[in-house]
Amino acid sequence: MAEDLTILKGDKQTQYQSLIPQIEGLLMGETDVIANMANICAALKEQFNWFWVGFYLVKGNELVLAPFQGPVACTRIQKGRGVCGAAWADAQTLIVPDVDAFPGHIACSSLSKSEIVIPIIKNDVVIGVLDVDSEDFNHFDEKDQAGLEKIISLINF
Ligand code: SME
Repeated sequence: MAEDLTILKGDKQTQYQSLIPQIEGLLMGETDVIANMANICAALKEQFNWFWVGFYLVKGNELVLAPFQGPVACTRIQKGRGVCGAAWADAQTLIVPDVDAFPGHIACSSLSKSEIVIPIIKNDVVIGVLDVDSEDFNHFDEKDQAGLEKIISLINF
């Protein structure tokens, strides 16, 4: 496993193209899901320097906070609540350009302005989400969706 990431600057596509093979390398030979989620958060934070990036996992009827990078966050989210709970209920990626305009958005921090949430689906069931927050409005687009969905698919949940 490589010990250091190579951080390429450039447009989003360039950054994902550089990062994804390195994440594949980080995950290679490691079967522990917590370890892999933790390293993915660190790699994404290092590459993109987003405000917050982390996982929530479905436990019973809630999402529960899992490995993340960034400020402390709310630990439990009900199905259908907030962007994360909505992505879980809909089993679909949600891109929110202005979190204040999203009904029921859960403000873990007032600094967060836009958000993308990708559901993690195993055997047709949502088992968790990857949540990313930015301090800028309108930060995430379909390139982030494609890159992050690819990265999620690398984890053997
Ligand atoms: N804003 C999220 C809650 C999680 S924090 O952003 C880390 C939501 O509305 O689901």
